[in-house]
Amino acid sequence: MVRDKTQFVCSECGAVATRWLGRCPSCGAWNSLQETQPQPARSEGKNRLAASHYAGASSAVITPLAQIETQDVVRSASGIAELDRVLGGGVVEGSVVLIGGDPGIGKSTLLLQTLDRLQRQGLPTLYVSGEESGAQVALRARRLGLPDSQVPILTETQLERILTALDKQQPAVAVIDSIQTLFSDQLTAAPGSVSQVRECAAHLTRLAKSTGIAIVLVGHVTKEGTIAGPRVLEHMVDTVLYFEGDTHSSFRLVRAIKNRFGAVNEIGVFAMTEAGLKGVSNPSAIFLSQHRDAVAGSCVLVTLEGTRPLLVEIQALVDAGGPSPRRLSVGLERDRLAMLLAVLHRHAGVATYDQDVFINAVGGVRINEPAADLAILLAIYSSLRNQPLPKGLLVFGEVGLAGEVRPAARGQERLREAAKLGFHTAVIPRANAPKSPIAGLTVHSIERVEQAMDVVRTID
Ligand SMILES: Nc1ncnc2c1ncn2[C@@H]1O[C@H](COP(=O)(O)OP(=O)(O)OP(=O)(O)O)[C@@H](O)[C@H]1O
Ligand SMILES: [Mg+2]
Repeated sequence: MVRDKTQFVCSECGAVATRWLGRCPSCGAWNSLQETQPQPARSEGKNRLAASHYAGASSAVITPLAQIETQDVVRSASGIAELDRVLGGGVVEGSVVLIGGDPGIGKSTLLLQTLDRLQRQGLPTLYVSGEESGAQVALRARRLGLPDSQVPILTETQLERILTALDKQQPAVAVIDSIQTLFSDQLTAAPGSVSQVRECAAHLTRLAKSTGIAIVLVGHVTKEGTIAGPRVLEHMVDTVLYFEGDTHSSFRLVRAIKNRFGAVNEIGVFAMTEAGLKGVSNPSAIFLSQHRDAVAGSCVLVTLEGTRPLLVEIQALVDAGGPSPRRLSVGLERDRLAMLLAVLHRHAGVATYDQDVFINAVGGVRINEPAADLAILLAIYSSLRNQPLPKGLLVFGEVGLAGEVRPAARGQERLREAAKLGFHTAVIPRANAPKSPIAGLTVHSIERVEQAMDVVRTID
């Protein structure tokens, strides 16, 4: 029988195979199958199901929505404004937050700072460290200028002991650093395996909901940048945050990917300093390079992340390629790049099929919104011609396959932010053209990609 044999579980989609395969037959992910020992069938659960079936499941209570009593969610603001903003105003009682990010990006630092703030406000906290010793965490606290921190530390990796400690201590907020180091005695699989991660997260989630303890889980990320372990982890929790940024630059972004208690795609911006992460309250200009003279292949985009506009420099390098030219992108979608190059060729007559094309969003920021399209196209065009775009130019707009330039949400806000930072020329979609002039800003509104090329050639 299959159940007695070793199984292989896909870490991306949770599909089960009976033998190892290089590629998951269900979701197509490569090298994602991990060996696990099947767990013995839970006879208790089975019996419960059977018993309730025969007993007519009389205990289930069905209530109309209107008769269910509700209360507003109780939030605890940490006082770290950039993190509170991403969480929708603070940590919600009984919620589970998953925070993922590259190694060394600052997850433990931020969470220790947060717990310390909460503890100082009189809220009980608990920091469960499965990766570092108490001494290491204490050293970090000293470095962060918190030598008198009263945050209680538990160095433990066994789930059952952690659950008991949480139940006994009843902290308002607990951090588990990290979910991949935990293991449950009930399973034979190794810590970090799909079944362990899933089981541990499920138990912790249940505890959070039943006791009101807010739990923050730290999650490792895979090489591709997604949270390691089963995909279901992201469904199980209330909020998923990603820590982004280039470890070579000091700026870090915390982005909400999912939030049952607040807006998604809100970002918090931090600078990593010797004394830990400091919030950047006015981040609009941090992703701009400081070129003294205009350079070819650079175009400034105004992107709207959550509620705040950010100015980001998009860089492109177009260079003679070999027989199979490369298309590489950092911080932007590669598939979208291929599509934009096709649009550029078909509608503006600019061919790049024999060229390598590299694009990059400066500062390690990741841009997902289509309003970046026009800036990418103009950066590529500028690099190909080896002609800088006009100084003080800013661009936004989505590009369609038919070569049309579509409007971006909240265009006026983007324009005003750019004007505030000294940009004086804008190339934007016609539908975003401001009704009344914006002081200091000349706006060129366009409808098609080829017009964008014409406009930048004619502006000085
Ligand atoms: N003395 C120091 N001065 C300035 N920055 C430091 C110092 N020591 C550590 N850091 C910063 O803190 C970062 C480590 O942060 P932290 O341990 O919180 O990361 P993490 O995301 O928890 O990593 P991991 O995935 O390994 O647990 C380092 O990458 C570095 O940028
Ligand atoms: Mg850490």
